[in-house]
Amino acid sequence: MTFAIIVHGGAGGWNRSAARKQEAIAACAQAAEAGRAILQQGGSAVDAVEAAVNILEDCPVLDAGRGSYPNAEGNVEMDALIMDGQDLTMGAIAAIQRVRHPISLARRVMLESGHNFLVGAGADAFADSIGFERCSVEELLVDDLHIDEMTVAAGGVRMEAIGDTVGAVAIDIHGNVAAATSTGGTANKRAGRVGDSPLVGSGAYADNWTAAVSATGYGEALMRVVISKRVCDFVGTGLSARAACESAIRVLEERTGGVGGLIAVDARGQVGWAYNTLAMPYAYAVNNDPVVSDS
Ligand code: GLY
Repeated sequence: MTFAIIVHGGAGGWNRSAARKQEAIAACAQAAEAGRAILQQGGSAVDAVEAAVNILEDCPVLDAGRGSYPNAEGNVEMDALIMDGQDLTMGAIAAIQRVRHPISLARRVMLESGHNFLVGAGADAFADSIGFERCSVEELLVDDLHIDEMTVAAGGVRMEAIGDTVGAVAIDIHGNVAAATSTGGTANKRAGRVGDSPLVGSGAYADNWTAAVSATGYGEALMRVVISKRVCDFVGTGLSARAACESAIRVLEERTGGVGGLIAVDARGQVGWAYNTLAMPYAYAVNNDPVVSDS
């Protein structure tokens, strides 16, 4: 049985410096390798995408976990969603503060909260009730470059120089797919603003019947076309993972004028990606083949 994983480090311009983009691509390659190691040993797709996203959340040039953009108040509020395509279970959090690995908290929401989606103070209280590790806001705001980029991205709309969001999708040897997306959201956003990332069907979707998908880009546009579920639906009509991603990006562009990117793995283990920004660091591994990474 084929196993595969594909990850992204966020769609955007990535033209601030070549070194920065290379660091993002290297983090993607490392994340894909870590996820593949789990799949190789017969581990689940959910374990693989969580492990991969944890690595991306630790990378300071990526907008998730450590390295998240500050909001207009200088605080960090993060969103995350994880979904298991075997039974369509999901866990999501929004506007969570002071955690290094939002995707792991989203998974605990899925497994332990009795709910699908917790936000703000309630998500904080849940994290504390299960003893989830907390950190300071200073630990998340490690990259001074982000402060400069806030001027580029004022209002959270323009993405010419920056990246946005991380994600991973995988299929395991049992044919189960999973998706995970984690983000610090747009730079300089209003406190309380929530983007597409934690919204099921927008920031991610996973269904064994079709595909697993993770999205990145300007959330105000992405959520209006429910872009990740749209990719799954395209796969359901017979499109390849790649063609389905390309078609959904066309819909995004034509219906909203928005920018973003997608990764997908379909139920046959084929990976695909597409973006309409200048770049989107990504990496994938299929079976035991060498990791492919680019942007
Ligand atoms: N795509 C992440 C966001 O807009 O928050």
